[in-house]
Amino acid sequence: RQELIYISTGSKEFDKILGGGFETGSITELYGEYRTGKTQICHTIAVISQLPQHLGGADGKCLWIDTEGTFRPERCVEIGKRFNLREDCILENITYARAYNTDQQLQLLQQASALMMESRYALLIVDSAMNLFRTDYIGRGELQARQSLLGRFMRMLMRLADEFGVAVVITNQVVATVDGAMMFNADPKKAAGGHVLAHASTTRLSLRKGRQESRICKVVDSPRLPESDATFAITANGVED
Ligand code: GTP
Ligand code: MG
Repeated sequence: RQELIYISTGSKEFDKILGGGFETGSITELYGEYRTGKTQICHTIAVISQLPQHLGGADGKCLWIDTEGTFRPERCVEIGKRFNLREDCILENITYARAYNTDQQLQLLQQASALMMESRYALLIVDSAMNLFRTDYIGRGELQARQSLLGRFMRMLMRLADEFGVAVVITNQVVATVDGAMMFNADPKKAAGGHVLAHASTTRLSLRKGRQESRICKVVDSPRLPESDATFAITANGVED
């Protein structure tokens, strides 16, 4: 068994509620409305995961699966300055893959396995995990097919987390309803993408906006962490206190 390493978020407060950071060997789901910081957290940990353990990293590469086209390499370079990392080193350690449909999204996980056998990866990001499932399976009649493929996708993620000891971090955009409950964005059936993801993710974190650049993260569902909140900021440095 691999030892558990925690990848720092870049914020001490945020790390505290996660018991150190994003756990390797398991899946963490980040969900929240638009602009709550999901993609910015991903950019920050794509950099930090490369650092040695005593600096909050996990000494490994990052694989980024992008379904929305929102990865920005220059943003990783900007965040890396905080750790005195060299531009070419940072980007060399991030493997980027774009998926345009759910079939590609699953295929990429098969390729991920081959990559992870060749070199040490610490982090696998899927930003966002649900987006293409929503656009590929629109009608109500397709719901069952969608849930079944989504279930397969989540099992493949769990297997990668188990086998290679990577931290798997997936994002999910949701919208708040009038009564404050969260539902999955553009989803015809309330929380329908929902429980497949909820059951498969080991830890679920909800994000909301605070004042200006501050954001609040809440541990919603975790076998190892108590329910608690942390406030952090998104600045030029990425995520910080
Ligand atoms: P969706 O993908 O639309 O659901 O949003 P998200 O949750 O992924 O939000 P994202 O992480 O993209 O953005 C969160 C906030 O980060 C934005 O409101 C911006 O204020 C801030 N942000 C984004 N890019 C930068 C940047 O390059 N520099 C700084 N300082 N802030 C940024
Ligand atoms: Mg985003």
